[in-house]
Amino acid sequence: MANTQMGVASAISCLKGRDFLSSSDLSSHQTFALLELASQLKSGQRRIDLGNRVLGLIFTKASTRTRVSFQVAMTRLGGQTVDLNPQVTQLGRGEPLQDTARVLSRFCDVMAVRTFAQKELEDYAYWATIPVINALTDLEHPCQALADFLTMQEEFGSLEGQTLSYIGDGNNVAHSLMICGALLKVNVRVATPKGFEPSVDVLNKSRSIAGNSSKIEVLNDPLEAVNGAQAVYTDVWASMGQEQEQESREMIFRDFCLTKDLFEMADSKAIVLHCLPAHRGEEITSELLEGDSSRVFDQAENRLHAQQALLAALLGGL
Ligand code: CP
Ligand code: NVA
Repeated sequence: MANTQMGVASAISCLKGRDFLSSSDLSSHQTFALLELASQLKSGQRRIDLGNRVLGLIFTKASTRTRVSFQVAMTRLGGQTVDLNPQVTQLGRGEPLQDTARVLSRFCDVMAVRTFAQKELEDYAYWATIPVINALTDLEHPCQALADFLTMQEEFGSLEGQTLSYIGDGNNVAHSLMICGALLKVNVRVATPKGFEPSVDVLNKSRSIAGNSSKIEVLNDPLEAVNGAQAVYTDVWASMGQEQEQESREMIFRDFCLTKDLFEMADSKAIVLHCLPAHRGEEITSELLEGDSSRVFDQAENRLHAQQALLAALLGGL
């Protein structure tokens, strides 16, 4: 056990003070080590007390899992969180981001930001003097991907060579799954309607990280994507900020619903994943979400353990 703990510490000690804006901010070695630390924290094999450190949460979009898992993770690490939503701070009245980021850096030890543009998150990271974490942007959801692959690892023991299929919109969640999957040597197949494919930059980046270790594929056929996969994943058709497209997307995505028939194409031991919140009867049937193969609530719980490991690493608590 001591050796594993030293291995984890040496792999992630260099993350102290760093930002986590994209899944690609971690190396393959560091991603595996963070999952190991998360699983040690979850089992109680490892406890970390960071002393009274403070996490600032700046969320311009709604959140249940990300917000609460960060709050609980920080409490378990002996610290606390402060809610800095634009509605209750001067940000909402137009105070510039560059001033806000510098002021908050004097009060907090780390910041988690949920917003629309990745560029805005990058601006926070540029001006802040403390680590900044991506708590979801339109481009990526890297904290989610850590919890997702932790859930797969718990199920299958080893991740290498496993296949995760993602059915739906090729946006934030899909992007982080592609990059993080590549880092963890998992094959990732993303199936989207035409015109909703993942960004070409993210695809190229994921493939370059994966090298010969795994395959990152983009398809337009859900059956082909799910065939033989160990995990089948979906997300809402209209993300936050796209509410006005809900109706048109229901038409465009209607063949991309995760149903029992589609899931039967997967490996016989396959699991169902969804980042939640879910729209039953749209991207996934209630039967599958509530069925024996569903791991969505373990996956949601794993947000806590993965983010506790991440915070410990960025705050240098190892
Ligand atoms: N999966 C996820 O990020 O959930 P929240 O939007 O509730 O944080
Ligand atoms: N793609 C979804 C994920 C929610 C966790 C959204 O951006 O709204």
